[in-house]
Formats: sequence, C-alpha cells, structure tokens
Amino acid sequence: MTLVRIVEIVVDTFGDVAAETLEVGRHRRIEQPHEFRGRHKPATSDNAREPGHGTPIDGDLEVFSGLSTTKNVGDVIAKFALGDRGHATTVADLLRSDTYGNRALFTQNPLLPATIAVALAPSLRAFDERIPMSSDVESKFHFSREMVSGEIYRKYEKAMRKYWKVEDLDFTQDALDWQRITPEQQKGLLGITIRFLAGEQAVTDELVPMLAASHALRRFDWTMFLATFLLEEAKHAEFFMRWHEAVVGVVDPSEVAPHFLTRGKTVDPTGRFEVRDVMHEALPNYGRILHEAALGGTEKEIERAFVQFSAAYNGFVEGVLTMPSYEIVIDTTTQWDAFPTLKQGFKLILADEGRHITFGTTACRMLIEKDPSYEEAVHEVFDAYRGNIVGLVEYQKAVPGLDVGKYQTMKVRHYRNRCREMGVKPDDTLIEQILDPSIDFVVGVEAG
Ligand SMILES: [Fe+2]
Ligand SMILES: [Fe+2]
Repeated sequence: MTLVRIVEIVVDTFGDVAAETLEVGRHRRIEQPHEFRGRHKPATSDNAREPGHGTPIDGDLEVFSGLSTTKNVGDVIAKFALGDRGHATTVADLLRSDTYGNRALFTQNPLLPATIAVALAPSLRAFDERIPMSSDVESKFHFSREMVSGEIYRKYEKAMRKYWKVEDLDFTQDALDWQRITPEQQKGLLGITIRFLAGEQAVTDELVPMLAASHALRRFDWTMFLATFLLEEAKHAEFFMRWHEAVVGVVDPSEVAPHFLTRGKTVDPTGRFEVRDVMHEALPNYGRILHEAALGGTEKEIERAFVQFSAAYNGFVEGVLTMPSYEIVIDTTTQWDAFPTLKQGFKLILADEGRHITFGTTACRMLIEKDPSYEEAVHEVFDAYRGNIVGLVEYQKAVPGLDVGKYQTMKVRHYRNRCREMGVKPDDTLIEQILDPSIDFVVGVEAG
C-alpha cells in the first residue's frame, strides 16, 4: 500500500470535513463523500469555533468522536508524518486547537502528536507492507451456493434446529436419588461426572485455534458450524455445573477438586504403553501449533496442523476415548434405575457430540483428499496416545457390574468409524491391542 493510498483511505474514512480539518484539502482535491455533502461549512481559522462552521454535525459527530482518542489521532498524524513531516506539524497545530475537543489532550503535552507520529511510523510502515489493500469488494462476502448446500453448512443448520437449554431440565429426582445411593456408589459416579465437568470446560477453552484456522483458510461454513460447536461445549460445561450444584451441592473449584480422579503417569504394569493426559496435554499442545500456523503459517502448514488438532480433538478424544464413558454413565443410570436427568443430559450431549465428531472428521477428509500426506498426522496422534485407548477405562471398574468387554469393542467400532469418515486406513495393530484380553491394565487411579 502506498502512502498516497493511505491518505486516500484516511480522507475517504473521515470525509471532506476531515480532509479540511487535517489540511489535506489544501494540497489534494478530494471528491467529497456523498454523506458529507452540504452538511457543514468549511472550517477556517476565523469561524472554526462557531456552530455550523467546521463543527461536525449529526453523523459527522460519530466520525469525529473516533478522533478523540490518542491512538486514532496518532494514527492519522503518523500517516501524514510518513509522507510529509510538514503536514504533521500542521495537523498537530489544528489538533491542539479545541475545534474538535482535542485541546485537553494536546495542551497537556504539546509534543504528543509528534511523539505519536514518530512512535507509530515504523509499525504503520510494517502494517502497510504486510496487509495488501484489496479493492476486491467480493472478498468481503463469504457465502456461496456451493457452501450453503454443502455438508458442513447442513451441520450448522441441524445444530440450530436441535438446540436445547439446560434451564429446561429438572434436577429434583436426581437430587433425591443422590441421597438414597450408597457412599461407594456416590464415589464411583462422582469420579465420572467430575471428570466430565473438567473435560467439558477444557474442550470449550481449547476450541479457539480451530476458529482461527477456519478464518485463515477462509472457510466461513466451518466458522459458522464452530460457533454452534463452541456454544454447545460451553452448554455441556453448564449442564455438569448445574447438575453438581443441584444434586451434589458442589460448585467452587475447592469443592469439586477433591473428587477429581488424578491419574498416575502410567499404570501399565508391563511398561509397554504410556498413559498421558490427552485432555490437558495433547489438546493445548496441538492447539498451540494450530494457532501459530493460523496466525503466520502457510496454507499447507495450517491445513496439516488442522488435521493434527482435529484428529486429537474430534477423532481421538470426542470420537473414541470418551464414547464408552457416555455409555457407562447411561448404563449405570439404567442399572440403578436412578438419575433420569443425568441420563437425559448425557443423551442430549451425545447427540451434539455426534455433530462435533463428524464435523472434524469430515474436515479432515476434505483436507486429506486435497493432500494425502496429511493422513500421517492422524496416525501420529493416535500413536502418541495409544496407551490411553488400549487400556481399560477406569470407570469400568469404578461402577461394579458393568460389562467390561463391551466398552473395548465399542472403542474399536468408533475407531473404525472415525477412520472411515476421515478417509484413512485404520491401524490394525491398534485394533488388535484394544481387543487383546491380555492387555488389561486400567487407565487411571483405580488401576490394578
Ligand atoms: Fe461436549
Ligand atoms: Fe464436543
């Protein structure tokens, strides 16, 4: 962007009133923007303080109110200072007057405008070099017929149709049930629900890099779906917060933390598999890589980091690891004939999760179809956290009487489905290890 173009933008933005105020009009004849025509009389040194003479009116006030901050004034000055320091002095003189209420700002420090100009000049120059000024108005619009008939956009529409509210749920029966179950049952159930309470907050927080990446990749349909996704994760966190508040009577971190099952580093007695914290280690790490790529990486770097993050978030955590946990809670409430609202909440959440998972796996498939080398990123993620899905879920032991084998088979089914949705080849060794009855260590503190 050239300096001339900057001046034009400033003048376009602030209009002819600004042009005259900033003394540009003396040097450049600028076409007066339509909305400013006939709405003021030119300011002169004689009439500048008189109503209607150089004083902005109506909508002009809004425009000029933006000038009343140090940064905006500094921006304007810096733009002129870059091209002609003489102009900066003139502008500084004008701004020191009280024509537009800037007197207080500048009389306190007469050198402020020049100081700002010098300070802002390098960053403005860098800004000019970095961001091309597009004259293409079409680039401001993102919708296309192809997009709004596409599968991601349809997921957005479905999410909007299926919206549910926590405030519509009644926790009364669950609170009564909590009082009648045994302390062991309370401990077992709370171990699961508290992990969900922490997990839903974590996945809400960790979703932002995907939004940044979708923006960088100019995928507005992904951004729209992710808006529902983020809201739903926040709502899931709200559900668990309200359930624990109404049923167990705990909300504050100091009240819920003692019930969190802290997992050891690894609990595989053979030492073959390492168990790591996927939620609080993998997601933030892959998220940081994706966020950095979105901010300054190439398109390929963003796409690869997106596949990696999505494989961890949607494929691994949502799509395989937590699936048995939902079932375990639903099975437990059925077995105990208790907690109807917990069951209802889990079913509602599970329906949302189905959309989240298939958004991620569909996005991965699209990117992998574009560049098959991204498939490797999926396998890298599943390999790095292999121990977490090969081992048994700790909840399977926390709630006595559940069919342990059912949840391992379920993991394999989900893993195969995720691979199919992403268009990648399943790792047969991983499947064998999940189903191997001799590999029966438990992921978590209830190990053994
Ligand atoms: Fe969730
Ligand atoms: Fe989710």
